[in-house]
Amino acid sequence: MLELCYYGDTVLRKAAAPVENFDEGLAELINEMIDTLRAEDGVGLAAPQVGKSLRLVVVDVSSGEGESEPHVLVNPEITCASEEKIVEEEGCLSLPGITLMVSRSAKVSVKAKNGKGEEVTIENAEGLLAKALQHELDHINGILFIDHVSSVQRAMLSGKLKKIAGKK
Ligand code: NI
Repeated sequence: MLELCYYGDTVLRKAAAPVENFDEGLAELINEMIDTLRAEDGVGLAAPQVGKSLRLVVVDVSSGEGESEPHVLVNPEITCASEEKIVEEEGCLSLPGITLMVSRSAKVSVKAKNGKGEEVTIENAEGLLAKALQHELDHINGILFIDHVSSVQRAMLSGKLKKIAGKK
């Protein structure tokens, strides 16, 4: 289990560096991130959320029943995002207790490498996967879901945000 970083930690606000070495260290980090994601019962986890400023995310949209194969995305890029948007509720392991309605593209395609450095693509993801991909890819650019709401909405969260930032 890796320790989570919470809102207020500067690592969450940095643009993460590309992964260059597809080595054992990377494989280990990926496994630990998947374990952490499962333990936290999350849908996605980005490396900066465990204190590693790297362009790496894991996403698992399965309901937790049966075997699931999480998406492991190294150096991911959104190659296509629909103009059509949908507004849905989001939360984040780094901002516990906060949920907000966030507008995202309804469909996205993503290109990335897997843990072995092989190219992987996800074409026209929709629903929860589309939302999770956009949320996690934001993380590696230092963007949090609270950045997508109005300053008025964010101001209403300031008490909760201060509490999260103060609990480190
Ligand atoms: Ni998040």
